Amino acid sequence: MGLIYSLMDKVAALFLFISLLLFLPPLYLFKFINSFLSSRFPENLTNKVVLIVGASSGIGEHLAYEYAKRGALLVLVARRKNSLRDVAKMAEDIGSPGVLAIPADYTKPDECQRFIDTTIQNFGRLDHLVNVAGVVALPLFEEMADPFHFQALMDVNFWGPVYTTYFALPHLKRSRGRIVGVTSFSAYTNIPRMTMYNASKGAVRNFYHTLRIELGADIDITEIIPGVIESELTKGKIFTEEGRLEVDQDLRDASLGIVPIERTKAFAHAVVERVRSGARWVLEPPWYIGLYYIRVLIPEVAEWGMRLLYVTPPGVPATEDLAKKLADLPFVKEILYPPSVRSPEIKRD
Ligand SMILES: *[C@@H]1O[C@H](CO)[C@@H](O)[C@H](O)[C@H]1NC(C)=O
Ligand SMILES: *[C@@H]1O[C@H](CO)[C@@H](O)[C@H](O)[C@H]1NC(C)=O
Repeated sequence: MGLIYSLMDKVAALFLFISLLLFLPPLYLFKFINSFLSSRFPENLTNKVVLIVGASSGIGEHLAYEYAKRGALLVLVARRKNSLRDVAKMAEDIGSPGVLAIPADYTKPDECQRFIDTTIQNFGRLDHLVNVAGVVALPLFEEMADPFHFQALMDVNFWGPVYTTYFALPHLKRSRGRIVGVTSFSAYTNIPRMTMYNASKGAVRNFYHTLRIELGADIDITEIIPGVIESELTKGKIFTEEGRLEVDQDLRDASLGIVPIERTKAFAHAVVERVRSGARWVLEPPWYIGLYYIRVLIPEVAEWGMRLLYVTPPGVPATEDLAKKLADLPFVKEILYPPSVRSPEIKRD
């Protein structure tokens, strides 16, 4: 038995080696040509119906403007009514031929059903479902009074996208449409204080990946993997254990440190262009791929770096970590953080 297994191990290694050598070059050539061709012939978004959940600020807001510029009909969903109305007005001014703003709480399944139905009643079809909404929490796991308090974070980051996708599916099938799901780079790396956030994003990521296999060619799924992007999240809006959304910019500094924050407008532009060309996933900004390979190839170094920057000894508050000290050096934030995220003001309603 032992002999057979050790032989199998060698055969497996040999097989892997040969298949890499033989199959990868043509496969990558094919993928390259394919992506080149689809970027030559991007999807025409004129009069396509695009539903964006989480459109009242940040990434969702700017995705709405990018779709509007390309002539898409928009359905915008978020909880904050007035902010949503402002975004809808702006999207119309930019060039969308029709915008519907639906205030709703998408952690409630019946509300998801309602805004999908309203979309179909108004526009008759649905081409892109864009799930953006998300909240972040930054406690150390050990310091939580009860991890179960964070189930509301799971509702927003996981159950919300799951239910909207569920109700949208028949309509997306009919239009051979696309799901655009925003996950997070944190689902691909090691970031301390993000246990709950990463768990929720990892869950929704695996949901999309598995759904892609089930759906086959009927519906395309594009996973958007944002790095650190200008938004209310990077202003320091966090979900507290008491279930409130609060802005804590010191904690934000301590959890970002000297990571440059990409402007939402540039981010949204890059994303919509890649979505139009049919990308399976979009990592934006693209240079994060370097961080990903460090994590995969030398995880020990990645983990050591993260601990050094972001983990404080027990009893010492997060806001005394090395990342915060670096962020507080002269001109660091002026250079790395866009002006909007340096103010703690967020949209209230
Ligand atoms: C996109 O589609 C619209 C109508 O659906 C059409 O008028 C327009 O010419 C198309 N644009 C391109 C670049 O094909
Ligand atoms: C986050 O989740 C992914 C799985 O989705 C995992 O591979 C990664 O190691 C996690 N990172 C952490 C704990 O920061």
